[in-house]
Amino acid sequence: MSINDEQDIVGLKRAGAAVAAARDAMGAHVAPGVTTAELDAIGKEILERHGARSAPQLAYGFPGVTCISVNDRLAHGVPSPKCVLSAGDLVNIDVSAELDGYWADTGASFPVGTVSAQASALLRATRLALEDGMSRARAGAPLRNIGRAVERRARQCGFQVIRNLCGHGVGRHIHEDPSVPNTFHRQDRTVLRAGLVITIEPFLTMGATMAVQDADGWTLRSCDGSLGAQFEHTLIVTGKGPIVVT
Ligand code: CO
Ligand code: CO
Repeated sequence: MSINDEQDIVGLKRAGAAVAAARDAMGAHVAPGVTTAELDAIGKEILERHGARSAPQLAYGFPGVTCISVNDRLAHGVPSPKCVLSAGDLVNIDVSAELDGYWADTGASFPVGTVSAQASALLRATRLALEDGMSRARAGAPLRNIGRAVERRARQCGFQVIRNLCGHGVGRHIHEDPSVPNTFHRQDRTVLRAGLVITIEPFLTMGATMAVQDADGWTLRSCDGSLGAQFEHTLIVTGKGPIVVT
């Protein structure tokens, strides 16, 4: 969507606060022995308290409230009482929701207990890639600069970018135009307009550049089983840098 007035900004910030609160509360409970169903229940409670409804449930009939993806599962992992977190895992928590007609989307990857030095480096690089991408989200700038910044950071840190998972427009639905690639597309001439609402969500891995659909029909895995991480924010493009609502 594109912001029309102050009311749109307030509405998006409320939706953003709900998903951010769920992300942080779930993240605080990440520990060895915890199941992804338990984390999902925490997210459900927080969203309900805010009066927000799960976006993946509402839009796609997803069998969970939030998406929780462990290790080589990159996105859309289905929460399960059988999925028990172990020390050394990386777990991605992605929360998106609708509140009063406004939709916001956020995600973060967390270490479970102590993780390898390389896994820590992957988390740090992915967080920095998101920050780099966000610093390019400025009205009048080419959209492709976001993917270029993400890709550059990944390369500098020795990691790969998943090419077929992208950020997206958001605000009046969970997935809107434009697509926001995490890689540089030279031909793309899209220019960012003030008021545009998008997510930026780099997925970095230790090897894979593509995600593939799992047999469960939901989960997206790295094609070679390599470990991945993602961080995501919803933001409003302005001439002075983004307003991050999550
Ligand atoms: Co998301
Ligand atoms: Co998203």
